[in-house]
Amino acid sequence: MKDSSIIYRKAMTEDAEKIVAFYNFVGGETTFLSFEKDEYPLNVEEQVSAIEALEGNETNIMLMAMDGDEIAGIATINSSHKIKARHEGELGIVVAKKYQGQGIGTELITRLIEWARGNGVTTRIRLDTRADNPTAVALYMKFGFIVEGCCRNSTLLNGKYYDLYIMGMML
Ligand SMILES: CC(C)(COP(=O)(O)OP(=O)(O)OC[C@H]1O[C@@H](n2cnc3c(N)ncnc32)[C@H](O)[C@@H]1OP(=O)(O)O)[C@@H](O)C(=O)NCCC(=O)NCCS
Repeated sequence: MKDSSIIYRKAMTEDAEKIVAFYNFVGGETTFLSFEKDEYPLNVEEQVSAIEALEGNETNIMLMAMDGDEIAGIATINSSHKIKARHEGELGIVVAKKYQGQGIGTELITRLIEWARGNGVTTRIRLDTRADNPTAVALYMKFGFIVEGCCRNSTLLNGKYYDLYIMGMML
């Protein structure tokens, strides 16, 4: 079900504290992210710099889904600055548990793809996802992503190994 009260907008420096808190929180809500609770690699100051660096950067974006002042989800595309690699954007996405299943992930990816098609550089999007994450795999396939490869035993969690899919699509 689509929640029309959600506002989608780019991240601003004033959001940095909330973004760091959000990632540190959702890291503990799911094991499907690469980081755990309180393991998000940036502190607030570094997050401010990262958002500032997005200003005028045509191949990197951080898109937020906001429920009033609360972050419901964040999706990003990051690309290399290198000439031979900058056409490829890497997508990352997380929607907080209480907001999942409402179409927010779909809307975030729709908007990111639209943005990527219009930036004049990006021609391909790739992402990594645990092979045993059916929600994410189904979501990506809905947009035309295909499984391009599999890194075996890439995640080690509580003594058990999990495979990682590399998924990609040309725009
Ligand atoms: C994956 C994630 C971003 C999806 O966000 P969401 O807002 O819940 O997604 P949507 O509500 O738009 O649903 C998207 C699709 O997911 C799939 N889906 C949803 N629930 C599902 C389930 N229980 N089983 C299988 N597929 C499911 C469907 O294909 C759905 O598309 P549909 O609405 O056309 O049927 C979100 O679940 C999440 O952040 N999970 C934890 C972190 C994570 O896994 N991130 C991705 C790491 S690669």
